[in-house]
Amino acid sequence: MTEKADRTVAGAAADDERRAWDRRYRERDRIWTGHPNTPLIDEVEPIVTPGSALDVGCGEGADAVWLARNGWLVTAVDLSPVAVERALSHAETAGVAQHVTFTDEDLETVVGSRGPWNLVTSMYTHPAQGGRWLVETLAPAVAPGGMLLVVAHHPTDPHAAEHPSLLAKTFAAEDVAGALDRSVWEVSATLRERTTREPNGRERLWRDSVLVARRHG
Ligand SMILES: C[S@@+](CC[C@H](N)C(=O)[O-])C[C@H]1O[C@@H](n2cnc3c(N)ncnc32)[C@H](O)[C@@H]1O
Repeated sequence: MTEKADRTVAGAAADDERRAWDRRYRERDRIWTGHPNTPLIDEVEPIVTPGSALDVGCGEGADAVWLARNGWLVTAVDLSPVAVERALSHAETAGVAQHVTFTDEDLETVVGSRGPWNLVTSMYTHPAQGGRWLVETLAPAVAPGGMLLVVAHHPTDPHAAEHPSLLAKTFAAEDVAGALDRSVWEVSATLRERTTREPNGRERLWRDSVLVARRHG
């Protein structure tokens, strides 16, 4: 297959993915909790000097809003225009819209044309191309001295086990960490458990793959 044909296939796949996510978002007024993700807070809160941040697969914008509130200048990207519209509305309500640039593009297009950023985060994006591709694609977008934070559902995550199409896209952090050159990156790859409380009071267990990589300055 030629490079041009390859790109056409990739473009068609991205269109399918966009349509699928738009359909899912339209099913309900809000899908996600509206709260920032715990691994993001855990890793980013200790950073003393905020800078520029890229949030890929930003969904309804809770992480982008949290980052902006904490002093980051954010670029937030999601394939789904429906999600991006909601994320912008969340940022406006929170009074931080002037600190976030939202865009409904494929993450690969954005990292290929802009940046670098001091912080690049991907929270549960799970692209069809897989976790290693995600890390390889995002790594060049991190500025020297910056951080790459990739969080995904672990293959043993109980939620993923209930959704076969999601399960097929899960990955373990240690299995994708090999994409990063250790002479350039300090890497931590862990499996972390957390629990949330369901509306019916039941506790729910989550198992996250957390890749934290700091690029040497
Ligand atoms: C599970 S949701 C997570 C949303 C948000 N990060 C959160 O944690 O609430 C995954 C999001 O990634 C987006 N997405 C999937 N593939 C993408 C891609 N190639 N480029 C940009 N966004 C993508 C989807 O549209 C969806 O909103």
